[in-house]
Amino acid sequence: MNKLNHKNVQLVNDLFSEANQSWDVNNLYKNLTKVKQVGAAKKVELTAVEKTILRGLLCGYSPQQIANEIHWTSGSLSVELTKGLYRYIETLTNRDLNTLKNWRDIVKWLEEAGYKTSQPQQDSLEELNISRFYGREEELQQLEEWIVEQRHRLILLSGMTGIGKTTLAAKLAKTIQPKFDYVFWKTIRHDSSLSSLLNNLLKFFTGNHQNHLSLTINEQISLLIRYLSCYRCLIIFDGLEAILEANKLAGFYQENYTNYSQFLKRIAEESHQSCLVITSQDEPADLFLLQQNPIKSLSIGSLGTAAKEIFREQGLAEPQLWQYLIIRYSGNPLVLKLIAAIIKDIFGGNISDFLGMKTEIDVMLPTLFKQLLSKQFERLSILEKQIMYCLATHRQSVTLKKLQEYIKPPVYLSDLTQALVSLKRRSLIEVSSLSNKSAFTLQPLVMKYVYRESQQLM
Ligand SMILES: Nc1ncnc2c1ncn2[C@@H]1O[C@H](COP(=O)(O)OP(=O)(O)OP(=O)(O)O)[C@@H](O)[C@H]1O
Ligand SMILES: [Mg+2]
Repeated sequence: MNKLNHKNVQLVNDLFSEANQSWDVNNLYKNLTKVKQVGAAKKVELTAVEKTILRGLLCGYSPQQIANEIHWTSGSLSVELTKGLYRYIETLTNRDLNTLKNWRDIVKWLEEAGYKTSQPQQDSLEELNISRFYGREEELQQLEEWIVEQRHRLILLSGMTGIGKTTLAAKLAKTIQPKFDYVFWKTIRHDSSLSSLLNNLLKFFTGNHQNHLSLTINEQISLLIRYLSCYRCLIIFDGLEAILEANKLAGFYQENYTNYSQFLKRIAEESHQSCLVITSQDEPADLFLLQQNPIKSLSIGSLGTAAKEIFREQGLAEPQLWQYLIIRYSGNPLVLKLIAAIIKDIFGGNISDFLGMKTEIDVMLPTLFKQLLSKQFERLSILEKQIMYCLATHRQSVTLKKLQEYIKPPVYLSDLTQALVSLKRRSLIEVSSLSNKSAFTLQPLVMKYVYRESQQLM
């Protein structure tokens, strides 16, 4: 058996610390110490090594794996377990001595004895404030059905900026988290490399000290899928558009992020018991090509009448005009919140005064929203921008044929069609029927934005 020097003691103290996140480890130490002290000649404590081995078992490591981690031989560890921890745990869980047949039962027994904490580990889900969450009952019901009942493995929530994708995903995660062993929330940023993201997830399972960056992406994914098979996990990737390509049609990954496609495909198609929920302004194009286990996709639209609560919250007057405002602003909660604040602060809560202030296109758009929309606008291809300006100028539904006539220089119908599909995937246009033909128009909020932009360009 290796002697533990100071450095090693520190090392074992840190090992398998992820057990703290889902087990009441301190209570367990305390109660196992009591068991250990029964019949002992002097006052003994659980040793640092015993605590570490216990945490390892709680994390699902085999005795052999634990031995490797703490640099013991498996024989030494087996002796340690047989004369110590295994017997203490049998006593603690009211079993006869020497009845443990499989180390895996430790987790089961201790869970039955109530040592597993009900709160699963989260990333930053807790930081998301959803104390004021309104409506979305149907969406939540649909998502729960897909995830909890039908056990789909890949879900997409798409919709324009401010429509409430992040808020809905947070509400969903908080609602269904008791059905999962672990919930992970990952906000995707423009520099979120898949490798470091997977490394962080893997570290949770294998211990903080272990780095998986030297593995290939495929190896990282395979390892993660093994954990996603052992545990039922809910992972949320919020804001996938951050790593999607700009100036191209919607839903293609930026050059260094194409491996996300491989990851999402494997999550959807390989067997495991977990679920990945993605939110994105743009629908990733590749996800719709999945054959074996198609993605479930929900496009998030107006908050509807539930948005009246936003006005109530701000103490606005004239409730008879609330529905009118909701329609005017396409039920976009972000815009409605910003508008409600403007009406409250500048117009003393009086909606008629605000509506009396006519602008070029009937109502104003809050600056913050325009900034967010302009970010989305920047990602469009040249042809997509042309279509947007064209639809803003015409201000009503335009058929494909007409659109082709309007766009200069002329474009192929196939290119035009692809650009329209792309705009639809970004929730920027709406499709309706005009004399039995598909016709296209801008999403009303987008219309206001593009119209203003086009005026400034003139
Ligand atoms: N159901 C809701 N009830 C109350 N407020 C909501 C609701 N949905 C969204 N909001 C509010 O609207 C704002 C925008 O929501 P959120 O950030 O979720 O939008 P998003 O679709 O994720 O936008 P982006 O694409 O820019 O990330 C937030 O301030 C949020 O609190
Ligand atoms: Mg968001």
